[in-house]
Amino acid sequence: MGLISPATIDRILDAARIEEVVGEFVTLKRSGGSFRGLSPFTQEKTPSFYVVPSKGIFKCFSSGKGGSVVTFLMEHEQLTYPDALRWLAKKYNVEIEEEESTPEQDAVRDRRESMFSVNAFALKQFSEWMWNDDHGRAVGLAYVRERGFTDETIKKFELGFHLEGRDTFAKAALKAGYQSEFLEATGLCIKRETGDLVDRFWGRAMFPIHSLSGRVVGFGGRVLRSDAKTAKYLNSPESEIYHKSQVLYGLFQAKQSISRANKVYLVEGYTDVISMHQGGVHNVVSSSGTALTLDQIRLIKRLTEHVTLLYDGDKAGIRASFRGIDLLLEEGLYVRAVPLPVGEDPDSLARSMDSEALNTYLTEHEVDFIQFKVEALTDEGQAQDPIRRAEVVRDVVQSVAKIPNAILREVYLRDSAQRLGIEERSLYAEMERIRGVELKNASQRRPERDPYEDPNVPEMQVQRPQAPRPLAVEEALIKVLLQHGSERIKWLGPDGLEHEDASAALILDDVSGDELEFAHPPYQRMFAEMLAVWQAEERILGPEYFVRHEDPSMAATAAECLTERHQLADWSRKSIYIGAVEEQLSSHVHECLLRFKEHRLEDRIKELIVELGALTDEAERQAKMTEFMNIQAMRNALRAELQRVV
Ligand code: CTP
Ligand code: MN
Repeated sequence: MGLISPATIDRILDAARIEEVVGEFVTLKRSGGSFRGLSPFTQEKTPSFYVVPSKGIFKCFSSGKGGSVVTFLMEHEQLTYPDALRWLAKKYNVEIEEEESTPEQDAVRDRRESMFSVNAFALKQFSEWMWNDDHGRAVGLAYVRERGFTDETIKKFELGFHLEGRDTFAKAALKAGYQSEFLEATGLCIKRETGDLVDRFWGRAMFPIHSLSGRVVGFGGRVLRSDAKTAKYLNSPESEIYHKSQVLYGLFQAKQSISRANKVYLVEGYTDVISMHQGGVHNVVSSSGTALTLDQIRLIKRLTEHVTLLYDGDKAGIRASFRGIDLLLEEGLYVRAVPLPVGEDPDSLARSMDSEALNTYLTEHEVDFIQFKVEALTDEGQAQDPIRRAEVVRDVVQSVAKIPNAILREVYLRDSAQRLGIEERSLYAEMERIRGVELKNASQRRPERDPYEDPNVPEMQVQRPQAPRPLAVEEALIKVLLQHGSERIKWLGPDGLEHEDASAALILDDVSGDELEFAHPPYQRMFAEMLAVWQAEERILGPEYFVRHEDPSMAATAAECLTERHQLADWSRKSIYIGAVEEQLSSHVHECLLRFKEHRLEDRIKELIVELGALTDEAERQAKMTEFMNIQAMRNALRAELQRVV
């Protein structure tokens, strides 16, 4: 049987009416815009099972289950996803079109799958050799421990060791039933002209490289001895499953932290990623040996727009960061950097201090790309030399000219003018000149392709990372209000005194005091009601109130918030959130509030960019620009604060 075509799925879901489908199994009564009934999943006496047709969802408060019409059938009838769709198609007379896969497609898929399974076997074998083989322990494990990696880190990054010998791995893999074709295709082995299969990575510490979904696409292998006459790192060759330019090392382990922190650190090497991780900085990835590519930048862009470069402090590192800065700016990202002392890399930096000191170091030394360039360029040459200075200016302006957004270009140019002590007008003229030249060149450039939109890119690459969720912060705050609103926490007030009150008190006062609003309408309404009652009666509305709310969107939202009690753990990234551990709740609330404000400021910045674009009156522009700069400064201060507390 083939796959149900996407067009058919759309037609089925368009036709299906959730209240009708659920109504076949549950007696429903209309109440307002929604329907209510006894949960089919539990033995309840009072109905707490809701269907909300306008949203196409059901929610069962007694079991916590909820979802779409398809989920309902899967849960209630124990159907698989395709079978649930077939059930619906039958009910609604939708004809099912199946997509037959061609033999060629099957062959390509099979080949890729075979390569993945060889890599999975290799991963297991290398880890086996590292942990359980006497020689492997004495050499491989000793090496990575010597480098300061803890066992926990070694396991998290699935590091391993490749035993010596001409074909030790090849033999093990063949014996386990893997075909030589795929050992060769993955690059784990090399076929000699004689037809012999030999190992590529023998005697090396192995760093598996994961796809976004966590499958191993390739390996990096490091020699153990520093005096070896061979390349320090060997990497898997390009293959059907490994495209170097489309992979970022560490992204699999970092993706959640990146979208949560709304920021990524970009480093150069495998060990940089791992050591930073161990030092508590989890939102870090590396392009591992290749110069940063557009595809890699686009991978990042799906998770965050804020990139901080953390490259080696030597000449090569600085050159690489300059290249990276321009590419990132061109793609519309916000770029900052942490300059490192000559001779240091993020790995050595992270190992030289504890995680608190590392955090402080990163926060205190991070500068925007302009300052980074100015410092790097003037450190090299003589700061006073006017010719040298002119070069610095040109170099900085060249980067600013890459920024696609005109308003941002202007903001940065103003900033550069101040910092360089040069009249803004002359910088502007220089930039316009550069842009004139660049734009001409750009029109001759090849069109860039988006790996996500290209149907020829293999499926693994098409998998999208979690979209950044701007509402996550609002959701987190509302969840605290609903789930833990009346639990007491302590905090330091602006008066410098310690306060203790319900967590909702802090949130309600803080958010309303700053005149901030929730963007998501149901959250906005919930917050407004809570605030009104709080201000009038000093009472905190509990979850029961909202679940029974006459506004079904509020009831549904409250339901969603309440069904995932464990969510807080996920958000606060601290091990496990247990009930009312006051300390954790307090820091969670603090973090949520900071993030909420940061988001609001970012929204305002985006608005201002649009407003600025529409203004023609010079005086008005100046005023707006001042507001813009102030808000940016506030946002940056908030970010610094956030880095300190999380
Ligand atoms: N690299 C590579 N091949 C090499 C050297 C480097 O592929 N012969 C890549 C690796 O991904 C490496 C990155 O470039 O992690 C950065 O190189 P380098 O700074 O020299 O290595 P480190 O990551 O610092 O490695 P180590 O700390 O083990 O020396
Ligand atoms: Mn290093």
